[in-house]
Amino acid sequence: MKKLENKVAIVTGGGSGIGAATAKLFVEQGAKVLIVGRSEEKLRKTMQDVNHENLSYTVADVSKEEDTQRYVQHAVERYGGIDVLVSNAGTVGPYKHILEHTVEDFDKVIATNVRGSWLAIKYTFPELQKRGGGSVILTSSIVGVAGFPAHSAYTSSKHAVVGMARALAHDGAPFHIRVNAVCPGVIDNDMMASTHRLLAPGAEEQMKSTLAARVPMKRYGTNEEIARMYLFLASDDSSYCTGGVYLSDGGITSGLI
Ligand SMILES: NC(=O)c1ccc[n+]([C@@H]2O[C@H](COP(=O)([O-])OP(=O)(O)OC[C@H]3O[C@@H](n4cnc5c(N)ncnc54)[C@H](OP(=O)(O)O)[C@@H]3O)[C@@H](O)[C@H]2O)c1
Repeated sequence: MKKLENKVAIVTGGGSGIGAATAKLFVEQGAKVLIVGRSEEKLRKTMQDVNHENLSYTVADVSKEEDTQRYVQHAVERYGGIDVLVSNAGTVGPYKHILEHTVEDFDKVIATNVRGSWLAIKYTFPELQKRGGGSVILTSSIVGVAGFPAHSAYTSSKHAVVGMARALAHDGAPFHIRVNAVCPGVIDNDMMASTHRLLAPGAEEQMKSTLAARVPMKRYGTNEEIARMYLFLASDDSSYCTGGVYLSDGGITSGLI
């Protein structure tokens, strides 16, 4: 039995990494999925990899209100409604001490990670209501529950996402809309690879081994492992879960919080 049969899902940031793996898994599990991102090239790559009639895309910037209204509208027009929102698009921004961080850096990270998630819920919520309920999954991070150096904008944004899930669980409950946050740890994908390149140019593998050694499970996670957490929260398997914060981090935060 497929876990998302007859469900419609929006996955933002579906052109790469965790979002692309999620789109693939959700389609395999019977969902009709709309992926969203700014780069058409990336979205088309996911379309090609998944190669299924139940996947489509909309080019949009999640930080913009009119783009959000447009991608929500596309999902409704194409598939007749929405049952699941995975707000996964995100940006790390630069790794800088507060003394070097600019206001522009801060605003950009907050616009995508916080405003983008909030807009996604605001415009998806009425559609979930029309279906009699649904599931919203917000992507936070281990920096949503712990602090790391030179990372104040991203950390603030991911803490805000945790607060958003907790607050909106209350707004959603009377309408059978569940809202949860997922906190991935260090994931073996392009986002972490670019972090290695930025922070340890020429010594990327060494940085990866050092970070992996700090994880109790002694490895990075995979996009697919996070996608399976999203699937749990999207499906009826999590029917009594709302307002929750779900770590999938190999235990890295267990010694921090
Ligand atoms: N990788 C990790 O170790 C890790 C750990 C914790 C949390 N996370 C979170 O997991 C989520 C997915 O990241 P990932 O690891 O899969 O990295 P990724 O491959 O860089 O994915 C981020 C996605 O977000 C999209 N995006 C960024 N800004 C956008 C905007 N303004 N409008 C629309 N789409 C936008 C990007 O597509 P476009 O560039 O085409 O717009 C991209 O597909 C993010 O929220 C990230 O913060 C990742």
